[in-house]
Amino acid sequence: MFKGKDIVSIGDLSKSDMERIFEVAEEMIPIAKGERKSDLLKGYILANLFFEPSTRTRMSFEAAMYRLGGKVLGFSNPSSTSLSKGETLADTVRMMDAYSDVIVIRHPLEGAARLAAEFAENPVINAGDGAGQHPTQTLLDIFTILQEFAHVEGLKVTLVGDLRYGRTVHSLAIALSNLGAEIHLVSPRTLKMPGHILREMKTSPEVHENIEEVIEISDVFYVTRIQRERFPDPTEYMKVAGSYKISLELTKRMKDTAIIMHPLPRVDEISFEVDKTKHARYFKQAFYGVPIRMALLSLVLGVM
Ligand code: NCD
Repeated sequence: MFKGKDIVSIGDLSKSDMERIFEVAEEMIPIAKGERKSDLLKGYILANLFFEPSTRTRMSFEAAMYRLGGKVLGFSNPSSTSLSKGETLADTVRMMDAYSDVIVIRHPLEGAARLAAEFAENPVINAGDGAGQHPTQTLLDIFTILQEFAHVEGLKVTLVGDLRYGRTVHSLAIALSNLGAEIHLVSPRTLKMPGHILREMKTSPEVHENIEEVIEISDVFYVTRIQRERFPDPTEYMKVAGSYKISLELTKRMKDTAIIMHPLPRVDEISFEVDKTKHARYFKQAFYGVPIRMALLSLVLGVM
């Protein structure tokens, strides 16, 4: 069922696909922590094609592969490849496909991962395509929520920040609506959730301009960075930079059990003092990227 599957947008995964991924990820946790050894992916090669900066996504895919005994090749600086000689993305993908068993791609253009999937025989996993989607981040986000609350249905989840250009919140909003969460959106007026994402959602979210409106009721705050690199005009960025921030003061008004998540990197959306509060989950969330990607790789390679 999973073998050979491309994972380009969150819509490529059904609810039962997600449940299967979470089940396998759970088993992977001790291996991800290095407590148990595994050779499950011995002999398999992952090609990491990173056309945009990345720390967590690229490294956690690498860690996932190494923890399971597999190997990784690829690039994180496309200027060192033949792309700089004018090779097309399609040709680069065809070559990397021939050198590996599975491709992970991050690219500044929306739709690049879908194009790669069309040219590659092997499974292609989207690690972020411009302001499009970031499905593997969504899987680890939902996994984090499940680790904390054991369910998603009925939870009040507030997505905060750059909902327009942030690809993590695009995939996440769709998945959360499918799983029955009550979704609240908080963003500057110019950075609202795009209409095409709202139309893909099963339920209508509640839209707010100020986090104050939901501070006492939310179970999960999912905070995002303003995606500066996607602003066509830098003066537009300056207008919204720093327009919301989770301060220590604000956390005092949250539910006792509320958690704060962030896909990271953070710039100034969450003050550093919040890190040591009982609400902070963003570093734990980043760790879950490893077992989730281990599960995903094992499933698309057909060994689980
Ligand atoms: C995100 C991304 O690249 O979309 N980072 C990540 O993968 N954890 C979020 C961001 O860059 O703001």
